[in-house]
Amino acid sequence: MAENKPASVYTSSQVNPYGRVDEEVAMVAEKEARRKKRMKCFMYVAAFVVFQTGVILIFALTVMKVRTPKFRVRSASFDPFNVTKSNTNPSFDISVIAELGVKNPNFGLYKYQSSTIEFYYRNIKVGEARIPRARAKARSTRKFNVTAVLSSANVPREDFDAQFANSTVISLRSQSRLRGKVELMKIMKKNKSTNMNCTMEINISSRQLRSLSCR
Ligand SMILES: *[C@@H]1O[C@H](CO)[C@@H](O)[C@H](O)[C@H]1NC(C)=O
Ligand SMILES: *[C@@H]1O[C@H](CO)[C@@H](O)[C@H](O)[C@H]1NC(C)=O
Ligand SMILES: *[C@@H]1O[C@H](CO)[C@@H](O)[C@H](O)[C@H]1NC(C)=O
Ligand SMILES: *[C@@H]1O[C@H](CO)[C@@H](O)[C@H](O)[C@H]1NC(C)=O
Ligand SMILES: *[C@@H]1O[C@H](CO)[C@@H](O)[C@H](O)[C@H]1NC(C)=O
Ligand SMILES: *[C@@H]1O[C@H](CO)[C@@H](O)[C@H](O)[C@H]1NC(C)=O
Repeated sequence: MAENKPASVYTSSQVNPYGRVDEEVAMVAEKEARRKKRMKCFMYVAAFVVFQTGVILIFALTVMKVRTPKFRVRSASFDPFNVTKSNTNPSFDISVIAELGVKNPNFGLYKYQSSTIEFYYRNIKVGEARIPRARAKARSTRKFNVTAVLSSANVPREDFDAQFANSTVISLRSQSRLRGKVELMKIMKKNKSTNMNCTMEINISSRQLRSLSCR
């Protein structure tokens, strides 16, 4: 009987000669399955990390990016309008109502300080207006009007356009600079200035803006 036990093991092994191998195969398969599961888990974590990094990156590149607001003249009207087209004594005396726009592309407030806008005729200042401090909301354009008197009183005769007496338009340039800060999510504040440099042509006979371009 004592010889029977190992014999029986032997026998059972002989009955199923692959029993041990089967066990090993099962163990290896189980190990493989666990490895695959771990791998899968790791892949999910890695994919999530990549996804999260992407989200943060996109967030940093869009929402948290501070862009320069655009400051420009949107339209203008002129009244009263006195223009003397004389060869000997040319002059103009025009009141302008200009609608200005501060376009804030940021995902946060743009608060700017008070400033001035200056108007130039052939690089000679002919008028100016005050710009009150204010704020432009996130991703919107703040519009407001300013009025100024444009007078050629300071323009020497020799600086007048040689064609002024015969011209149909008056060309003017407006220039300004806003200093302020962009506030993102109420925690991040960044100083941001923006410049205006617009040229406009006034049609003398219609007394209206003929062209307007800002850069
Ligand atoms: C401008 O023209 C208006 C009439 O259109 C006149 O009342 C005013 O005195 C003029 N102003 C100047 C400065 O010439
Ligand atoms: C600016 O003035 C013009 C008329 O002079 C008016 O039509 C326009 O609505 C005004 N804009 C603002 C923002 O008040
Ligand atoms: C304006 O045009 C007239 C003729 O239409 C001409 O005689 C005169 O010289 C011109 N003046 C200027 C400053 O070009
Ligand atoms: C931002 O601008 C203010 C004045 O408006 C100034 O006192 C401050 O030093 C500026 N900050 C930076 C970081 O440039
Ligand atoms: C404004 O723009 C004009 C051209 O439109 C350019 O000649 C001029 O130098 C600019 N001025 C400033 C202060 O950027
Ligand atoms: C100025 O306005 C008048 C009347 O609206 C028009 O006939 C003329 O062509 C305009 N001139 C220019 C240079 O746009």
